[in-house]
Amino acid sequence: MARPTLIRAALFSALALLGAGAALAQTDPVADRKEGLKRMQGHLEAINPVATAGGDVREMVPRTEDMMAFFATLPSRFPAGSDNNGSKALPSVWADRPGFEAAAANAVTAASALRSAAASGDAAATAQAARAMGGACGACHRSYRGR
Ligand code: HEC
Repeated sequence: MARPTLIRAALFSALALLGAGAALAQTDPVADRKEGLKRMQGHLEAINPVATAGGDVREMVPRTEDMMAFFATLPSRFPAGSDNNGSKALPSVWADRPGFEAAAANAVTAASALRSAAASGDAAATAQAARAMGGACGACHRSYRGR
């Protein structure tokens, strides 16, 4: 009777460890936000050439909506203490929280304008809105992202 119990106990703790590892991987805010920010970069890089070439910018609407949603949640992706794990976030993210939140709100506004331009099908207006979006990225990076 002893052996099956031991095996079951060992199996249980192995599974528990696996579960904890998976939970940690999913909730590392640094890896999670970096992944999202890379996705935002990908959106901008996809939108720019279509807009400047006068292409069908309406196809870019879902990307702009993902940007609106992501930047609306950006501040919450920088919880206190998440300045580890290779993060390039500057201490100002936490020391100047109102400024950081304003920069994120500006990005939501820029993404919303980009969505309107893309939805209208006006490629030139979309190219211009994409430049403004890039400006909102850079404005935040200058004050809140290290190199
Ligand atoms: C409100 C501030 C803010 C805005 C707006 C913002 N970023 Fe960032 N971004 C950051 C910070 C802070 C980091 C550093 C994150 C870290 O390393 O923990 C970062 C990092 C990044 C990275 C590096 C990710 C990595 O793998 O290390 C990319 C790419 C990036 N941002 C792209 C963008 C793009 C594209 C936009 C606009 C469409 C944008 N960001 C808008 C604050 C911002």
